[in-house]
Amino acid sequence: MLTRLAISTHEEVYRVEDRESGLRGFIALHSTRLGPAAGGLRMRAYEGDDAALEDVLNLSRGMSYKNTAAGLPLGGGKAVIIGDPAHDKTPALLQAMGRAINMLQGRYWTAEDMGMSPEDMAEIARETRFVAGLSKGAHASGDPSPVTARGVFDAMQAGAMQLWGTADLTGRAVAVQGLGHVGWHLCVLLHQAGAQLCVADMDPARVAGTVKEFGALAVGAQDIHAADADIFAPCAIGGVLNIRSIPELRARMVCGAANNQLATPEDAERLCARDILYLPDYVANGGGIINVAAEILQIAERDSWVADRLATMQANIAHILLRAGAEDVSPAVIADRMVEDRLLPQAV
Ligand code: NAI
Repeated sequence: MLTRLAISTHEEVYRVEDRESGLRGFIALHSTRLGPAAGGLRMRAYEGDDAALEDVLNLSRGMSYKNTAAGLPLGGGKAVIIGDPAHDKTPALLQAMGRAINMLQGRYWTAEDMGMSPEDMAEIARETRFVAGLSKGAHASGDPSPVTARGVFDAMQAGAMQLWGTADLTGRAVAVQGLGHVGWHLCVLLHQAGAQLCVADMDPARVAGTVKEFGALAVGAQDIHAADADIFAPCAIGGVLNIRSIPELRARMVCGAANNQLATPEDAERLCARDILYLPDYVANGGGIINVAAEILQIAERDSWVADRLATMQANIAHILLRAGAEDVSPAVIADRMVEDRLLPQAV
């Protein structure tokens, strides 16, 4: 069922196959230096094995960075299943993945990612205990989005302190791209803080909801990055900060939940050159993994534990911004450096 692949950048990588259920996929453990490798399971109709392998390698490395930046005793890992979740997902296939994960004896913990639901995690949990993101059970962590939104909001306050000398967001204009799970909760917090919202989503009903609830200004999805705002908050898709969009930004700060906001590492420099403060995505959106970590680590007093971790995350962000300012480099460079210092010598 598991075939180990020799890939020097990662501690362990496996091809996963189960003929009976039709399961095909990969599990990658990038680093277990700080604890068991943790990261979600993604199911996607990949073009082929190479594309799936590339994705699992990138995503697992990204989880090492995210978990380390959040100060968690967890390493980075990820799993992918090759297939269309709408047509190919069956209980037998998920259970087979559960058996594969179980064979790693806790060196890898899975949770939800694209194409997966809490019900799917429950199916996997029939075969292994190394699964989080469950909706029921003693330590079930449920929907991570409110905690992710809280972390993004805290990060914005740290950025505001750096830029404007106050964490108070009253009267600040914030352009929120994407009004899904995280975007909506972020709008709630920003509205409560007295910020002015302008919003965009592909779904007109979500836009209408925020206009009605929070008096938000609706902006076209194509134009939200260029809205006349103090802060741009990407909470939808990756790659939104790129060679075309960056010259059009009007905000002084970018801080949002979306993963992989920078299309290329050079885009961090482009933002710096325009004097736009960029809060590294994997640091700002760490609230979600903090929430899941409470389940993996079976924390009894989860609310206070999560609150403590969020406070530490905010302090960490403030530290990154200070160092970036002192060295006149992008916060993305400082964040990467801090993580890599902690991950050495195993990680690349
Ligand atoms: P979601 O799927 O609930 O919401 C995404 C929203 O973005 C949807 O309303 C969708 O219509 C909208 N959207 C898609 N493309 C768009 C575009 N081009 N312009 C404007 N709106 C667009 O996703 P969720 O859970 O809110 O996550 C948002 C982002 O944050 C994703 O990149 C996700 O990977 C990341 N993230 C989420 C975490 C969580 O706790 N849910 C944790 C860490 C990262």
